[in-house]
Amino acid sequence: MGKMKFEAGKAFAEHLDEKDELASFRNAFIISDPNLIYLDGNSLGRLPKATPAKIHKVIEEQWGHHLIKGWNADWYEAPSRIGEKIAKLAGAAPGQVLVSDSTSVNLFKLILAAMKLQPNRHRIVSDVFNFPSDLYILQGCVNLLGDSYKLDLVQSRDNITINQQDLLAAIDEDTAIVSLSHVAFKSGFIYDAEFITRHAHEKGALVLWDLCHSIGAVPVELDRWQADFAVGCTYKYLNGGPGSPAFLYVSARLQAKAISPIWGWFSQRAPFAFDLEYQPADGIRRFICSTPPILSLLAVESALDPLLEVGIQSIRRKSIKQTSYLIYLIDQILVPLGFKLGSPRDPDLRGSHVSIQHANAYQINQAMIREAMVVPDFREPDNIRLGLASLYTSYTEVWEAVERIKQIMIKELYRKYPAERAAVT
Ligand SMILES: Cc1ncc(COP(=O)(O)O)c(C=O)c1O
Repeated sequence: MGKMKFEAGKAFAEHLDEKDELASFRNAFIISDPNLIYLDGNSLGRLPKATPAKIHKVIEEQWGHHLIKGWNADWYEAPSRIGEKIAKLAGAAPGQVLVSDSTSVNLFKLILAAMKLQPNRHRIVSDVFNFPSDLYILQGCVNLLGDSYKLDLVQSRDNITINQQDLLAAIDEDTAIVSLSHVAFKSGFIYDAEFITRHAHEKGALVLWDLCHSIGAVPVELDRWQADFAVGCTYKYLNGGPGSPAFLYVSARLQAKAISPIWGWFSQRAPFAFDLEYQPADGIRRFICSTPPILSLLAVESALDPLLEVGIQSIRRKSIKQTSYLIYLIDQILVPLGFKLGSPRDPDLRGSHVSIQHANAYQINQAMIREAMVVPDFREPDNIRLGLASLYTSYTEVWEAVERIKQIMIKELYRKYPAERAAVT
């Protein structure tokens, strides 16, 4: 994509919407209040129109009518069946992706599986941009494994990116696994995953990618990268719904050797033989644990259809254009009002959200929600994240959001909101 030229007026945003080849996909989502500008699809995606009908059918027809027959008819295979749909967005050949548990629990399972494959290595390498839950899981794994194990975090030099040479320098002969977020939850910084994976492998380390902020927004090529493991959630850009189950990837290269530390009946070779001894199933199914949450699992299935129809390359093209447009407006309108850009300027280095920073960010964030009908989210200490979802965010919304933030600043509307943090920010 060549250098993009933007203009600051509203007519330009409308013009971009008219030319947007993905504009019609907004109709695939429930937009209950057109005045509300939702820039939080990177936390919880919008509700696809197909989902209520699908869930209604699952409840009334499958649960209500078929009762327990539902397991053989549709439910038992659903974790792998839906995993295969996600695999198409993750660049994974069949048989390597499974929907199960939460991202954190999947991370726990895969890290302990990886550590068992690397008995003579004692270090886990991650970075300060990884999602805190990931870091807690990694700390918990080290705690379980014992005193000779250690987690090392690579620091950021600029608080927006991680210098890849710093990361490479941290990987040594004692590194068992490198566990990173592909796209950083705060700044949106995106790693060159293929490059990092190749280098880690040269040192004999395995690599796990957390795809929560990239799946459905950014091209992911797990097989091409030669990734070993990956985890990710389905409630952000995949629009699976609040608390929808997560997914995991285990490379086919490792499946015969890797084993989940949680030995549940669903990962048994023959769960309904009720054998008293555990034998792991062949293939990816050995990483499931137990009865899946069928209602929320099946909500993920239909939500994936618009993404698969559009294709990740078109989604990424729009996302780059939209985030570049947003950064242009931030520079023109918000920087003079005291904001700083908290995301990489180079589109190749950022995912689909843009952070802006301000000393009063927490108060401004509240004013955006309560006064201006703009929903972003706040991340400590001073970040307001603006998430753009190519399937339903319009250019006019981007323009309007910046205009409303400008009004909040000019009228100092944020001053009436407390700086003390609520339980959920
Ligand atoms: C990058 C990343 N990893 C992990 C998680 C935690 O996910 P879960 O609550 O499914 O464990 C999140 C949640 O937002 C996240 O953004």
